[in-house]
Amino acid sequence: MSNELEHEGSSILPVQQTSTEVNTPVSVLPPHVLRRADIDPIAATRAERQVSIMFLLSALFTLLAIVSFIAIPVDQYVRVPGAGVTQASNLAVGFTLGMAILLIGLGAIHWAKKLMPDEEVTDSRHSFSSSKEIRQSVMEEIRLGGQESGFATRKIVRRSLLTALALLPLPAVVLALDFGPTPKNELRSTLWGKGVRLVTDPTGRLLRPEDFQVGSLVSAHPENLHDWEEENHNLNARAKTPILVVRMSPEELRSTQGEGWDYQGIVAFSKVCTHVGCPIALYEHRTHHLLCPCHQSTFDLADSANVVFGPAARRLPQLPISVDSEGYLIAQSDFQEPVGPSFWERG
Ligand code: FES
Repeated sequence: MSNELEHEGSSILPVQQTSTEVNTPVSVLPPHVLRRADIDPIAATRAERQVSIMFLLSALFTLLAIVSFIAIPVDQYVRVPGAGVTQASNLAVGFTLGMAILLIGLGAIHWAKKLMPDEEVTDSRHSFSSSKEIRQSVMEEIRLGGQESGFATRKIVRRSLLTALALLPLPAVVLALDFGPTPKNELRSTLWGKGVRLVTDPTGRLLRPEDFQVGSLVSAHPENLHDWEEENHNLNARAKTPILVVRMSPEELRSTQGEGWDYQGIVAFSKVCTHVGCPIALYEHRTHHLLCPCHQSTFDLADSANVVFGPAARRLPQLPISVDSEGYLIAQSDFQEPVGPSFWERG
């Protein structure tokens, strides 16, 4: 069957084709124009040098990224026009790594444009399963392409590229050293403890049971949090203490941690997702399900916040609560299990 198709103004190759064989297409591409580097060895050498310089500059920027990461103190800040104040080491590492990657890309593009063969080739459509001969010829073409690209013969380009690529993963290794120590036992204790009052987050209003209707949910933290932060000048406690306080009818509670963990149907759970630590606050009071917006872990607050869906591996830690002599909601103790992502708990 002979065909010549017009498709959106461009001509598809005319192909002489039978149902069982495909013939060589007649090319309609413009004739190939030789570039300067194809005919002038001096231009080729100059292009080769330019490519190598880019690859070597990339290697230099990779080393600079490592040096910046090690040498620039983390508490040093700089003002960047248009972006405000930012951490100097982040800026330097980001810039140098970006330049390293950019220069490898630019070098590869320059190499392809100036030195690699740029003849356009066409291939006709054919059946999906190629014959053994075609597969062999393709492999041969790939091999020849590799040869013609100069990867084997242009030693300086090859070596500079390999140097740049070999150095590029190094910053990842150095940056990995900055993951810091594991929290060890720090997630096993929080500011919550016997008699600590619950206050709303962020207004700091003391909470009473009558503030809650069935179905309502409030974010809270310990009353002593603000004083602790003033004294210790850090925000670590704030990351561990947030809770969600929910009221449901006592008969809706399908399971409890034990006697006295809820107060007349009011229950309090850690707000930190046990998957990877996102704050949770999407509550569906009809089902008592609490949904984490990060990866959709779902916890059933009527069933001790056990996981009903999603990647979280364990329930939300519950805070046992009661009321004090003045009628304010208080914690009965700290959490009985570590707050936060499950993997901290292991080991
Ligand atoms: S952090 Fe909550 S589901 Fe992933």
